[in-house]
Amino acid sequence: MSSTELRVSKIKEGTVIDHISGGYALDVVKILGITGKENRVMTIAINVPSKSLKVKDIVKIEGRAVKPREVNRIALIAPHATINIVRNYKVVKKLEVKLPKVIEEIIKCANPSCISNSNEPVSSKFYMEKKDPLLLSCHYCGSILEKSDVLSQF
Ligand SMILES: Nc1ncnc2c1ncn2[C@@H]1O[C@H](COP(=O)(O)OP(=O)(O)OP(=O)(O)O)[C@@H](O)[C@H]1O
Ligand SMILES: [Mg+2]
Ligand SMILES: [Zn+2]
Repeated sequence: MSSTELRVSKIKEGTVIDHISGGYALDVVKILGITGKENRVMTIAINVPSKSLKVKDIVKIEGRAVKPREVNRIALIAPHATINIVRNYKVVKKLEVKLPKVIEEIIKCANPSCISNSNEPVSSKFYMEKKDPLLLSCHYCGSILEKSDVLSQF
């Protein structure tokens, strides 16, 4: 540990979400529905230096797994995130988030008159135009969604 680092408590069992794009940790916390009132140990690091990214955020949560639907949402705003499962203080599993070329159901089209927003039984469908910074195009109306449009839905 170098003199510029500060040691915080390790978590015993839980999840470490690492390599979150710098500045997006609080959005990840929001996706997880965590308010901070849950009586869990949680550590959030924002804009810390990273070897692979320039800066990164990290979220560490005791006693909590991350559901597949949450992982899919995290992938949209933090495409380089790594999900580490911690058991007995050790990382026992590491998952990289994946951004599929086609995204269905997890987000809504920003265009209110898009057929995917009507009463028709049509669920949303987007094509991944760009990963980072995020750009999605709607299969039905061609609307372009960026990261801020996606974040406002979480
Ligand atoms: N018990 C724990 N409590 C809190 N954080 C932990 C714990 N164990 C590991 N971590 C954190 O989880 C992340 C992944 O740990 P790991 O030991 O796999 O690091 P790494 O080798 O740097 O991984 P990567 O190659 O994914 O960057 C690191 O940010 C590490 O600090
Ligand atoms: Mg590392
Ligand atoms: Zn649309």
